[in-house]
Amino acid sequence: MTSFPVEKIRADFPILKEKIRNKPLVYLDNAATCQKPLAVIDSISHLYMHEYANVHRGVHTLSIKATDRYEGAREKVKNFINAKSTKEIIFVKGTTEAINLIAQTFGKANISAGDEILITAMEHHSNIVPWQMLCEETGAILKVAPINLQGELIYDEFEKLISNKTKLISVVHMSNALGTVNPVKKIIVTAKVKNIPVLLDGAQAIPHMPIDVQDLDCDFYVFSGHKLYAPSGVGVLYGKQALLEAMPPYQGGGDMIRKVTFEDTEYNTLPYKFEAGTPSIADVVGLGAAIDYLTDIGMDNIANYEAELLDYATEKANKIKGLKIIGQAKEKGAILSFVLDKIHPHDIGTMLDSLGIAIRAGHHCAMPVMDFFEVPATARASFAMYNTKAEIDALMAGIEQLIEVFG
Ligand code: ALA
Repeated sequence: MTSFPVEKIRADFPILKEKIRNKPLVYLDNAATCQKPLAVIDSISHLYMHEYANVHRGVHTLSIKATDRYEGAREKVKNFINAKSTKEIIFVKGTTEAINLIAQTFGKANISAGDEILITAMEHHSNIVPWQMLCEETGAILKVAPINLQGELIYDEFEKLISNKTKLISVVHMSNALGTVNPVKKIIVTAKVKNIPVLLDGAQAIPHMPIDVQDLDCDFYVFSGHKLYAPSGVGVLYGKQALLEAMPPYQGGGDMIRKVTFEDTEYNTLPYKFEAGTPSIADVVGLGAAIDYLTDIGMDNIANYEAELLDYATEKANKIKGLKIIGQAKEKGAILSFVLDKIHPHDIGTMLDSLGIAIRAGHHCAMPVMDFFEVPATARASFAMYNTKAEIDALMAGIEQLIEVFG
């Protein structure tokens, strides 16, 4: 048994003490968004109570304090993912905005008619639709590498789809619908041979494993704060400095400029060139606090503990007659997607809610994955570092109960 301090961690999350329908909350919808520790909540209220003003704009004390907090969070993000410089850390609204930013700036500058963008068949809509939009605008072609019935990328087919026309490879690090962790290092090594930039969608991977962008050697890595125990409304676009320097800005406005006249505008340096307008200051500060909190626990410890939870849940789920796990990759993060004979996933979700258990039921913004597995939707339990084996027992007992009643 692990010595992971799960009870101590649970005590840091006030919402976990809530009762849902008079039952203790069992929160297993962490892939959608995860809950926030007091350290994050307190950092935000502290800022608003003592240090809040706009950033980069004032000479007054509060603005200097708020700017220090905001830029301090950028430094924490840089260290957390081991970027070379804070110039490579752009604050955005979330993963979706980061991918759209890359499509509209890097994409428009480097991708034209007949060029190809390569993704996989397990992408979230946010790593499909921005590329479809770009293809529509430019005449580029979207190529999709297939997956197998375990929910793994078929690597040989993926490699075959890389051509001299491939201008970008954009791949999910860990699938939100299946839990699959892709062989991203191998993908990047292959792409480098042909000098093709690689974008990794890290929305799901970031809370579950240590991320080192220099070791990965990816060109872009994007993620959201709200899945990393931080507030919603903030996310990160990491990009290699040379690539970001060469990209045109995304939005125009305050803070992203150095000099403006009616004739001409000189853009600001990195990272500000991509941060037009007043940013989500308190959310960025909250992200910094979440990173401090996670760093204290240790991402390796979190990864090990969650692997134990996933193994436990998988073993239990495999014993339930009529339950089929969707996504059985060898390399997998803490997500258990499943379907039950004769019971629609939405009914599973509603029934479990009556027991105080929160899961997600639906297509998980990955409709092509549902089509591939020929299911309309799945029920998905997604685990976080504050979940326990007792909660998994409650989930499995709930499933057994609803099979007995409706199955
Ligand atoms: N992308 C999030 C999920 O998988 C919202 O639930």
